Amino acid sequence: MKSVIWQQGIEPKNMTYAACNQVLTLFFDETGERYTETSVRHLPIPNWSGNLILTNPSGDDPTKILGVLWATPFKDDIVRVAAFVIHSEFQGVGLGSLAWNRFVEAALDAGYRRVQLEVMASNIDAQRFYQRRGMAVEKHLEGYYKSGLGYMMRGPLQSVNE
Ligand SMILES: CC(C)(COP(=O)(O)OP(=O)(O)OC[C@H]1O[C@@H](n2cnc3c(N)ncnc32)[C@H](O)[C@@H]1OP(=O)(O)O)[C@@H](O)C(=O)NCCC(=O)NCCS
Repeated sequence: MKSVIWQQGIEPKNMTYAACNQVLTLFFDETGERYTETSVRHLPIPNWSGNLILTNPSGDDPTKILGVLWATPFKDDIVRVAAFVIHSEFQGVGLGSLAWNRFVEAALDAGYRRVQLEVMASNIDAQRFYQRRGMAVEKHLEGYYKSGLGYMMRGPLQSVNE
């Protein structure tokens, strides 16, 4: 468990087929949403500290993707988190907070001041995670998720160093 690390990922469009499938499986297993390889590859996630991949370099498969936090410039001073998921085995032990804090510092350094994302209305745990980090539901999204209602959440980027 201790040896998993967040490291900077590559742009989704350049990922191998295997890596892309690992991300699709993660999304499906942990959120129930089924995405296509094309939709993942088209996510405009640049090479930056808001593109983080969780792996276990000393594990059986050092390249296996165990989590992603993918953020992308959106508009004005807003950065959008397009994907945030961690394998269930590694949830609830602070790894999400670690990635979030790294992303927030990078986004503030890059000049962003606000963060926005979409979350399923049924995903109360994730909403709490975001609320505790200063975000609030701003909009209800009908038809965004195949499996039901979604929320758009937004808030100021809050540095943990302040
Ligand atoms: C949402 C998600 C990315 C959060 O990541 P995580 O690693 O589980 O989150 P953390 O462990 O850092 O924090 C969650 C809670 O665990 C607890 N926690 C944090 N550090 C901890 C530690 N060292 N030991 C035990 N518990 C800890 C805290 O209660 C924390 O709550 P906080 O918000 O008050 O800090 C992850 O749970 C996940 O992948 N969920 C399924 C997919 C999903 O819902 N994604 C979001 C879609 S929008």
